[in-house]
Amino acid sequence: MATDYKITIEKVKSNLIEDISKVGTVNDLKLLDIKYLGRQGEVNQLFKSLPIKENPLIGKDINELKNLCAKLLSEMVDHLLQQPSAIAFDVTIPGIQLPKGTKHLITKAIEDIESIFNQLGFVRRRYNEVETDWYYAEGLNIPKGHPARDDQETFYLSEDVVLTAHTSNGQLHEMEAIKVPPIKMINISKTYRRQADATHSPMFHQFEGLVIDKDINITNLIGVTEYFAKSYFGKDRVIRLRPHHFQFTEPSFEIDISCGLCHGTGKIRDKDCKICKSGWLELGGAGMVHPNVLKNGGLDPEKYSGFAFGWGVERVLMMKSGLSLPDLRLLYTDDLRFLKQF
Ligand code: FA5
Repeated sequence: MATDYKITIEKVKSNLIEDISKVGTVNDLKLLDIKYLGRQGEVNQLFKSLPIKENPLIGKDINELKNLCAKLLSEMVDHLLQQPSAIAFDVTIPGIQLPKGTKHLITKAIEDIESIFNQLGFVRRRYNEVETDWYYAEGLNIPKGHPARDDQETFYLSEDVVLTAHTSNGQLHEMEAIKVPPIKMINISKTYRRQADATHSPMFHQFEGLVIDKDINITNLIGVTEYFAKSYFGKDRVIRLRPHHFQFTEPSFEIDISCGLCHGTGKIRDKDCKICKSGWLELGGAGMVHPNVLKNGGLDPEKYSGFAFGWGVERVLMMKSGLSLPDLRLLYTDDLRFLKQF
């Protein structure tokens, strides 16, 4: 009996040694590990089949076999890992193609806009989107209770703190930061208004230009606007200024650009152009910086003058691409069927 069980244990041991000698890869070893040391493996089968209770020495010998198996398998793993060929790796198999993302339409538009203004020496800024009333309104010559405050349907976080409804708050920050002109800023940031319909999104982007120096006048504003319009929309586009009112500029304008579809005529084959209807599309507001705003920014209006403009990124993007979106808010859904078209 004593020798019988030793023969059985020896048999398992010699089988293992033989199996290990045939192993070629780490994967083969994993299979041997299961074959000998797994729950249903050879070693556990010995515990079940041999009379351990009758002879405790049997249990001791099986345990020794178990340790030996573990040691031999682990030594073989170390040995194989030093041989590159043991790791099954076929360098000729093509890699897995990961889906490639593209820049979002708005990100691309912001980069294009920034790069055009960079060519003219404007410096990109990104000022606060959560702002105190002073920078957002009061310092921009819009006193508390003034009706101009109603136009922008602002989100008030408290009586004194807002989510900026325009990027014009950056004007005062820039004057305070630079202190001594020349100033040439392009502030592109997110803006927020309590508006949500097909042509208005509650969150959108504006880009705000500000130029201040000695002897700056309206011709400089026209020159910069034309440069942007031709660079972004195409050489054949022209702009026009329409009188308007903003509290922080005087005089103030809305700037229009000629429609790319009907070439400024308002008609396509004797029918009204469906994009503009009049030959012109509105870009956004502009004007000469109001003397009170210069003073509030710490600058002397007798010495310095400047112009500013603020336009919607989504709006110019749609004008450029001729993208006729049924709803502007589509730009902010994460629907890849829409985004992948661009
Ligand atoms: C302003 O916000 C002024 N601060 C612009 C300005 C700056 C004038 C500097 C003078 C000097 P307005 O409210 O018109 O102006 O908005 C400018 C542009 O923002 C609009 O022409 C439009 O393109 C865009 N816009 C306004 N509201 C929304 C909205 N809810 N969704 C998408 N775009 C909008």
